[in-house]
Amino acid sequence: ESISPLYSLPTEVRYSPPWQDLSIIGIAGSSGSGKSSVAMEIVRSLNLPWVVILVMDSFYKTLTPEQHHKAHANEYDFDCPESIDFDILVETLRDLKKGKKANIPVYSFSDHQRQPNTTTLYSPRVIILEGILALHDPRIVEMLDVKIFVEADMDVCLGRRILRDVRERGRDIEGIIKQWFEFVKPSYTRFVEPQRPISDIIIPRGIENTTAIDMVVKHIQRKLQEKSDNHTEALRKLGLVAAAV
Ligand code: CTP
Repeated sequence: ESISPLYSLPTEVRYSPPWQDLSIIGIAGSSGSGKSSVAMEIVRSLNLPWVVILVMDSFYKTLTPEQHHKAHANEYDFDCPESIDFDILVETLRDLKKGKKANIPVYSFSDHQRQPNTTTLYSPRVIILEGILALHDPRIVEMLDVKIFVEADMDVCLGRRILRDVRERGRDIEGIIKQWFEFVKPSYTRFVEPQRPISDIIIPRGIENTTAIDMVVKHIQRKLQEKSDNHTEALRKLGLVAAAV
């Protein structure tokens, strides 16, 4: 009985763990542009195991009692980069890339703070990182395989945000509008829109744009295939192709 060459290889080349090829897709865009729906549609269309959505809201900084008070009065700026703990987010993504598990904070929009519980994430194959500033930090941009920017008219965004924040985030209309003009809209111009030119793909009209989403999914599939081909090629160069296929 012949023994497969697989069994004579050292463990580290014989086994290719899922995180070895972890791909990260960043989705940025205005609040209410439809990033979360686009992310869910990508997950559905990719139809692969080990695909997770990581929402950047989980990484809002903890507020001091004074900031907390301001947040409840819609006077705290949640749209500037300083409000997000990018260091922890970078560390989390690096850990996942190394195959370590990560504890992701669970965020409550009605309390403006992290909940005591966390979600444990074990090295997935694809992470979809979704947030208004997903393409802001160069350390994160460097880790991204695909950079997406979702666009929608700002009045559509405001309309969606009002409906969602009233229904799901425990807010009132006056407060939403105050926060929008004070922080959300100015930050869009200052920090969100400038991410547009560095994106690989722009999706106009968000979730309604099924043609663009189809293209995005095909692009991601191609990227994943390229990565897998490169991995196979590297093994072939080592003379281990029999083990790789
Ligand atoms: N935000 C808030 N209160 C908090 C934390 C965040 O109002 N305690 C708001 C910020 O003002 C920011 C928004 O949450 O503008 C970010 O979420 P958003 O992008 O609107 O939601 P998603 O579902 O991630 O994206 P989309 O609406 O595009 O689907």
